[in-house]
Amino acid sequence: MSDSDGYFGAEVAARYDDVHSPMFELTTVTATVDVLARLAGDSAVLELGIGTGRIALPLAERGVSVHGIELSQAMVDQLRAKPGGEAIPVTVGDFATTRVDAPPGGFGLAYLVFNTINNLTSQDDQVACFRTTAEHLAPGGRFVVEVGVPELRRLPYGETTVMWGEGPPVWSYDVYDTATQALSSNYVRIDDGHATFRSIPFRYVWPAELDLMARLAGLRLRSRWEDWDERPFTHESRRHVSVWEKPTEGHVERTTGIEPA
Ligand SMILES: C[S@@+](CC[C@H](N)C(=O)[O-])C[C@H]1O[C@@H](n2cnc3c(N)ncnc32)[C@H](O)[C@@H]1O
Repeated sequence: MSDSDGYFGAEVAARYDDVHSPMFELTTVTATVDVLARLAGDSAVLELGIGTGRIALPLAERGVSVHGIELSQAMVDQLRAKPGGEAIPVTVGDFATTRVDAPPGGFGLAYLVFNTINNLTSQDDQVACFRTTAEHLAPGGRFVVEVGVPELRRLPYGETTVMWGEGPPVWSYDVYDTATQALSSNYVRIDDGHATFRSIPFRYVWPAELDLMARLAGLRLRSRWEDWDERPFTHESRRHVSVWEKPTEGHVERTTGIEPA
C-alpha cells in the first residue's frame, strides 16, 4: 500500500465494492442519487472522497457533470476501471484543502457522504473542509453531508466500546474517546484460522458542531433529514443528511434575530 493512499490502499480498494452493507444496495444508491440529482439541477457537482464512484457513476449516468477529489490513487484506479469511470475528472488530494478548477461561477452542489467527514481527524481539518468547499460553491450552491450521529447513547458509563458487526468472518467495533471526540473503527477478520486486524481513526462530530462549521464558512442550514428518503431528523435518528447553502449575493444573514435600532 502506498502511504499516500491513507486507509484506502490497493488491497482495501480492490474489495471496497464487495462489502455486504446496505450502503451498496441499489435502493440506497438510487435514493441518494435521486436527492443529489434534484439538488444539482443543471449545475456541475463536486464529490469529496469520490472513492470508486459508488455514487458518482450513477449520478453521472443521469447526465450530471461530476468532479471528484480523492486522497487514494488506488480508489481512483478502481473508479477508472469501471464503465464511465474514465470520463470523471478527479483531483488526487486532501479534500480539506485541495482546490479544483470549478466551472465558471462555481459548483452548484458539493457532497460528502458515507461518514467521510469523520475521516478528517481534527476539528481544524473539518472546519477547513467547510471553508474550502464553500469557496468552490456558486452563490446559492449547496453542500450536503451524510454522517452518523455519534452512538454515545449505546455506551454504559465508564465503557468506550460499541460492537456493531458480528462475524464470521469479520467482527467490528468502534472505540470512543469522549474527551477528544476521537473514534476508531476496528475490524478483526478471520479466514481459515488466520486473523487480520484493521483500525481506522475518525473524529466524530455532532450536527450542531457541523452547523457552526458551516456558519464559519458562510453557509446556512437549509435541510436536515434522517435519510435520503427525507424523513424528519429526530432525537431517535442515528444519522443525518444535512444541506447547507451558500447565500446568494446581496443576502444579509441575520444571526441574532434582533433588528438593528
Ligand atoms: C467510505 S469511502 C466513501 C467513498 C465514496 N464517497 C462512497 O460513497 O462510496 C471514503 C473515501 O474518502 C477518501 N478520503 C478519506 N479522507 C480523505 C481526505 N482527507 N481527502 C480526500 N479523500 C479522502 C478515502 O480514500 C475513500 O475513498
